[in-house]
Amino acid sequence: MESRANDPKDDPNATDEWSDGSGPTEGDDPDDASGADSSAILEAFHAKGATVVTSGVDRTDVEPTAGADGDSAAGTDRGRRLYDRWSGKERLYDGLMGLAAPLRDDAFDALSIESGESVLDLACGPGTNFERLREAVGPEGTIIGLDYSPGMARRAAELVDERGWENVHVVLADAAETCGPESSFDAVLTTFALHTMPDADAVVENVHDVLGSGGRFVVLDSRPITDGPARLVNPLYERAIARFVNHQRGRDTLELLDAPFDRVTVLETYDAGAGYLAVTEKRDGE
Ligand SMILES: C[S@@+](CC[C@H](N)C(=O)[O-])C[C@H]1O[C@@H](n2cnc3c(N)ncnc32)[C@H](O)[C@@H]1O
Repeated sequence: MESRANDPKDDPNATDEWSDGSGPTEGDDPDDASGADSSAILEAFHAKGATVVTSGVDRTDVEPTAGADGDSAAGTDRGRRLYDRWSGKERLYDGLMGLAAPLRDDAFDALSIESGESVLDLACGPGTNFERLREAVGPEGTIIGLDYSPGMARRAAELVDERGWENVHVVLADAAETCGPESSFDAVLTTFALHTMPDADAVVENVHDVLGSGGRFVVLDSRPITDGPARLVNPLYERAIARFVNHQRGRDTLELLDAPFDRVTVLETYDAGAGYLAVTEKRDGE
């Protein structure tokens, strides 16, 4: 994709932006974007070291990891490389993910989005959820997609460009490091991603921080099967898929939600209990 030269005022990643008085004023806390518009959210992401890959921003540095060998590196690097590889296999990836469309429908319903809200699509991949989220928030709302794979973030940003969605933005960042400024989102959605995150507990804590009071967190994901005969094959299954999706074996992602959130509701389970849809809410004083 062609990279463009930009007016620094349009580019939240431009380093000289804040020394010329066009960025946040002195005393502004880039960490707190409560009630902020999308540009304040994007500036706060940038202040945390994230790269905004949104429309009109230079993408020269946003290249899939070179020579990616998904099996050799550890942890975050391994996951990032693996998903960079997946980002180049569009038809296969989209075909596989398309199988889960009905489950996504349940997740969108669970989000109960209202027009004008700001929503984080956590680990957005190539932007599969964007269209539905955008329909739900309407022209006044904001969607931020976040992913740590440059290849995926780039694909997501290209989708945004193609569709001309001005209120959808893409951020390249490790969610374990930042999910954005505090109290900036009305809702966070994550689909098929928590179980691939090496540091999912830190990510869940970050999600809690970025939700405003009453904000919803909807998780569509998988967990180890602990009951019934299926539990016997679960370790084999997890081992098999770890290689392809960076699955974190034995990690119960549903349990992780209990640490920062008071009450977690499981709305649906799928695949003998290996898949689940859960919703939780940040309460006053949490
Ligand atoms: C199986 S894909 C799911 C993508 C998308 N949510 C969907 O439903 O199609 C998992 C995604 O999680 C991203 N991911 C994994 N760990 C991450 C992290 N720590 N921070 C940001 N993104 C992460 C990967 O790069 C990948 O795009």
